[in-house]
Amino acid sequence: MTHGDKAREGALAISEQVDLIGRAQAITPLHRNSLVDGWRLLDIGGPKIPRSDVKGTAFRKRGFIAPEEAHQDMFKAFFVIWWQVVLCRRFTVPLSRQIVPVKVDGRTVSHKTAYYGSIFVGHPKPQNFTVVFDTGSGHLFLPDRSCEVRSWLCIRRHAMGFNIYDELPAPVSKYHGTEKQVLAEIFLQHAQGGVLPVTPWYDASKSLAREFPEQLGCLDDPAILGRVFQMIDDNHDGILDQDEFVNGIHELLHPTTQEAKTLRARIAKAVLPAVENDFGHVKSVAIIGAGVAGLQVARRLMEIGISCTIFEKSENVGGCWQKNYADFGLQVPRELFEFPDFPYPDDFKCDLFPTGPEVQAYIELYAKTFKLYDIAQFKTTVVELQPSGGQRGWTVVFEKEKQRSSKAFDYLVVATGMYSWPPHIPLARDASKFKGQILHSCTFTDRKVASGKKVVVVGGGKSAVDNAVSAAKEGSQTTLVCRSWHWPVPRYLLNLVPFKYATYSRFGHWFLHPHHGEGATSTWLHGTCAPVKWLWWRAVEFMFRGQFQIPSSMIPEEGVETDLFSGGQILNYDFRDMLNSGKIQTICGAIDKFTETGVVLVDGKELDADMVIYGTGFAKNYDIFDKVIQKKLNIQKDGLYLYRNVIPPQVPDVAFIGCEVSTFNNILTHGLQALWLQKMLSGQMRLPKPGSTEKAIQKEQAWKRTWMPPASSRASLYQLHMTKYHDMLVDDIGAKRFRKMPNCFGELFMPYTARDFAGLFTEASK
Ligand SMILES: Cc1cc2nc3c(=O)[nH]c(=O)nc-3n(C[C@H](O)[C@H](O)[C@H](O)COP(=O)(O)OP(=O)(O)OC[C@H]3O[C@@H](n4cnc5c(N)ncnc54)[C@H](O)[C@@H]3O)c2cc1C
Ligand SMILES: NC(=O)c1ccc[n+]([C@@H]2O[C@H](COP(=O)([O-])OP(=O)(O)OC[C@H]3O[C@@H](n4cnc5c(N)ncnc54)[C@H](OP(=O)(O)O)[C@@H]3O)[C@@H](O)[C@H]2O)c1
Repeated sequence: MTHGDKAREGALAISEQVDLIGRAQAITPLHRNSLVDGWRLLDIGGPKIPRSDVKGTAFRKRGFIAPEEAHQDMFKAFFVIWWQVVLCRRFTVPLSRQIVPVKVDGRTVSHKTAYYGSIFVGHPKPQNFTVVFDTGSGHLFLPDRSCEVRSWLCIRRHAMGFNIYDELPAPVSKYHGTEKQVLAEIFLQHAQGGVLPVTPWYDASKSLAREFPEQLGCLDDPAILGRVFQMIDDNHDGILDQDEFVNGIHELLHPTTQEAKTLRARIAKAVLPAVENDFGHVKSVAIIGAGVAGLQVARRLMEIGISCTIFEKSENVGGCWQKNYADFGLQVPRELFEFPDFPYPDDFKCDLFPTGPEVQAYIELYAKTFKLYDIAQFKTTVVELQPSGGQRGWTVVFEKEKQRSSKAFDYLVVATGMYSWPPHIPLARDASKFKGQILHSCTFTDRKVASGKKVVVVGGGKSAVDNAVSAAKEGSQTTLVCRSWHWPVPRYLLNLVPFKYATYSRFGHWFLHPHHGEGATSTWLHGTCAPVKWLWWRAVEFMFRGQFQIPSSMIPEEGVETDLFSGGQILNYDFRDMLNSGKIQTICGAIDKFTETGVVLVDGKELDADMVIYGTGFAKNYDIFDKVIQKKLNIQKDGLYLYRNVIPPQVPDVAFIGCEVSTFNNILTHGLQALWLQKMLSGQMRLPKPGSTEKAIQKEQAWKRTWMPPASSRASLYQLHMTKYHDMLVDDIGAKRFRKMPNCFGELFMPYTARDFAGLFTEASK
């Protein structure tokens, strides 16, 4: 964290990114005059810091930041202060001093002093920000929930350089005259001293993209931008004069030379038509992936007469259930992993917690019953998705038996999964020296390979724990090395009550951090009952500690109510028992490097190993889209934020089903998403206007970033909040969210399963 510009840059932190890698973030306080509609003043309490005090070295200042509700409700304000300051002392702001050298030509000419400290912002669970305090002001301005797009833009222009609504719909042209006159006007608008160096060229290209959206709509992308600059910079001096700019862009708009034609063809690959809210033209849909998500989409869309083709790179339906790590299976009982329109048939033989092959058999039965094999092309990998040159629809380029072909479709559904490919393998140094075997959980498919071996398993998630148990059954010595511990959830609370009563019921759901969409009363109630909720979760932790006999060295740092959002693992007692009997050892740490015969941890400790298994989860990859389109998807460090986790607001005619959402009942979640898509494509449900979808995404993003643990997939995580997510989908399609009513008791205390939604699907099929 530094002073000056860097601190201003850090202002983006509030909305853009909240500490994924432990990097300090900073916020520059703004002046009171910058306050605009929809923004709320958050006081850093106590007197303002006078400039003269900054010279002091042992400077400390105490105060608190009042959450936005405190402005409306005195009782709440009192309560918050009592709770946060008196009990937790959370809003005490001790300041530290940092001296930053000011360098000219590499020489230090003076020093600047900056004071910084940690503050906690966000509701309901404040998140930590490191703030450089601009000593002229004692205030921070942060957007509140009702913040309108205009306010953001206003702030962006006048103060912070915020960059949220960069992609707003293009305004009507503000330029006049012939095409060349318009180009000249754009040039003059951005030129500096009569020429256009590289940086203002970026801004000029944004104006060009807005003015000529169909031909140059993707010009704001650096990948394209560099090539265009190179082409139009006739004398290659790194700056553009007016003639070069006007003639060069004119040539690009009406290409005559081979170079311009090639560049236009490249640009055409990335030019998208405007996003429309009307899907009457959709007669054919390409679905990529034949997991439970892709299959359910196909079924729903075929019901409304849309022709579907499923592209699947493996040789069968089922996705991650076809083949996975040794001894894999459902972590939840079968009624919590069930197609809402196809319950397990009575004669279907499987365990209460079915094994992987049993789940696969069930999925195959679904596909056979609804004739989904007929529309699937197996062993067919989609390698590229091209927009249809400014027209609506997509061309799917696919490879089968090394033959490349393509086919045009009106609409695209990406259902490539969250947890199947590519595996995330954070290899340490000198891995090539290691004489043993290195596997990822998804390639550790037979536990016999660990027979008699010393195995090191990396990771602390569900896969890693399961892998450690399987390896310990065969191996001579198993060590689980993980960088942080996570709370396990028992199948039965207190060995009596199935966990679903706590986690899948509305009652259990109420104890979570409230969603930003909660009404005023509910938000107030959540705030007021905060101590009760806090006690509830500590009691839950106490119970889990007891059931799993968790030693104090393995207690997770995060409270259980937030930790469950970093993955979640429902375990039986195998791991606990193997730990107690010494069959599995655990080490909190990370591998620094490999040796020929093992690994060295970051603390220098050496472990002998014949096999290292990475249970480190999966990465995401959307390289099937052109780089420019990927940029329009606006993939962030914490994932891809979509409207309702389905629709990218800037890329038309494509939906993501299943691959950008994760709950504790994924098959139902995917089913509801597929139904939602059906209603949208059939015109029975309309999306909100373009600006509103962005605003909804923005709210969701801000909400998650204020309390959910940082993760590369945070955008897609709902986990226990699935009840809220399902409510939103059901509300959108105009159905009633309280599926168990008039049974009030059931509505509150009974777990929600796929069967509660079955009626919606029967209706849709009629
Ligand atoms: C071991 C394991 C256990 C799990 N247990 C549970 C559980 O208990 N409860 C729960 O709710 N969830 C569980 N999950 C989460 C699981 O991911 C979902 O339940 C669900 O099965 C995912 O379905 P999907 O269709 O979205 O993705 P996937 O099943 O991953 O299917 C995606 C498909 O897309 C195909 N594909 C990808 N790219 C291309 C391409 N370019 N061209 C063609 N085809 C392509 C893949 O081959 C794959 O078949 C578990 C996951 C794992 C790995
Ligand atoms: N039977 C089942 O039902 C089942 C089985 C497997 C998986 N799943 C589901 O599938 C999803 C994926 O689970 P998963 O366990 O495969 O992956 P995961 O939940 O993403 O866990 C990955 C683990 O790897 C660790 N890790 C990541 N990068 C690391 C690095 N560079 N160095 C050290 N450690 C690193 C993470 O550590 P940190 O925690 O410190 O980040 C985390 O513990 C989850 O939602 C899970 O519930 C279900």
